[in-house]
Amino acid sequence: LDAVSIITTKRDGGELSDAQIDWVVDGFTRGAVADEQMSALAMAIVWRGMTRRETARWTNAMIASGSRMDFTGLPRPTVDKHSTGGVGDKITLPLAPLVAACGAAVPQLSGRGLGHTGGTLDKLEAIPGWQADVSVPRMREILADPAIGAVICAAGADLAPADKRLYALRDVTGTVESIPLIASSIMSKKIAEGTAALVLDVKVGAGAFLKTLDGARELATAMVELGTDAGVRTVALLTAMDTPLGRTAGNAMEVAESVEVLAGGGPADIVELTVTLAREMVALAGLDIDPADVLADGRAMDQWRAMVHAQGGNPDAPLPTAKHTEVVRAERSGVLTRLDAMGVGIAAWRLGAGRARQGDPVQAGAGIEMHAKPGDSVTTGQPLLTLHTDTPEAFPGAYAALQDAFAIGESTEKPATPLILGR
Ligand code: URA
Repeated sequence: LDAVSIITTKRDGGELSDAQIDWVVDGFTRGAVADEQMSALAMAIVWRGMTRRETARWTNAMIASGSRMDFTGLPRPTVDKHSTGGVGDKITLPLAPLVAACGAAVPQLSGRGLGHTGGTLDKLEAIPGWQADVSVPRMREILADPAIGAVICAAGADLAPADKRLYALRDVTGTVESIPLIASSIMSKKIAEGTAALVLDVKVGAGAFLKTLDGARELATAMVELGTDAGVRTVALLTAMDTPLGRTAGNAMEVAESVEVLAGGGPADIVELTVTLAREMVALAGLDIDPADVLADGRAMDQWRAMVHAQGGNPDAPLPTAKHTEVVRAERSGVLTRLDAMGVGIAAWRLGAGRARQGDPVQAGAGIEMHAKPGDSVTTGQPLLTLHTDTPEAFPGAYAALQDAFAIGESTEKPATPLILGR
């Protein structure tokens, strides 16, 4: 076995054998297969694809590059959710404690943001004292405790290390956009995490990896097959990501919005997606309870407070705010017909909510508040957006990203924008 023949096999449209896949993923993890060789192979996979068998083997090889977590024996069923990433997507924050309050254990290993989509850990780190690192024994204790039951934490270095290296390489070699590579990347981490059941929120639209419903359906199908074949009960929903979710994009502001949802308020789209995903998770966990009731009666809020507290955070501490704000106003009256997720995501990122390079710090208070969403009537001079940052030199870059991100039209008809596009 050698790297060059594996690359040329895939380059010429051939199928890789199980032995070739195991060898190349293992060699890459150990440093025996060079970055330039893995980059060439990734590019060949982008063009030639992988069969279902190859994708499953590739996923298993990435899981085998590290250690697998084991949450069997807990007194409660485990279930997790993964979103393929969107702007304003803070759903994990209200969802994990809600599903824990319904009686499941939610082991949620999350990431930090890179580029225009935010990271769940960056959001939670806006809470004073909150810590992303939790040891595996402590995770088990939290999951077993019915008053907490959910842990949102950073993945350890030993969880699918092959994926960590490969994802960093794909990020800088134009090889992210491949359905077998995305599916195996996400599912290797989720299977290694040891959850018994998984709900995938596959985003579709201008602000998502996959812009079309067909592409998103193909990714969802590949991930459900990988999960099912690995013994993880897996369901995927296809949900819209043309416009940001909720009314905020930015770390501390998204925490505040999540707390509003847990208190029984919050934006309708966040509530709808949270409850829809919670129903899928609760059903997969075999629990007979309606999450809408658990959200309404305050039990999810109690669980949130316990969850934040268990990771060193103070749920009552005031959240950080940015030092500078500027308001974007409507230049005419009419109906907001478009508010583009990508434009808002990039603007929030430039204001300091996200990072350009791994390891950069993020600003807790930076981001964008949206005072109107598509379908809302607006009048001349009315605030549309408030931009928040600690670094006012970031405002021009944010305005540039927002230049073509919204439109005000004549129509008073609400555009049809279903949130849940398929299952
Ligand atoms: N998220 C991942 O974890 N991996 C990908 O390849 C794409 C999105």
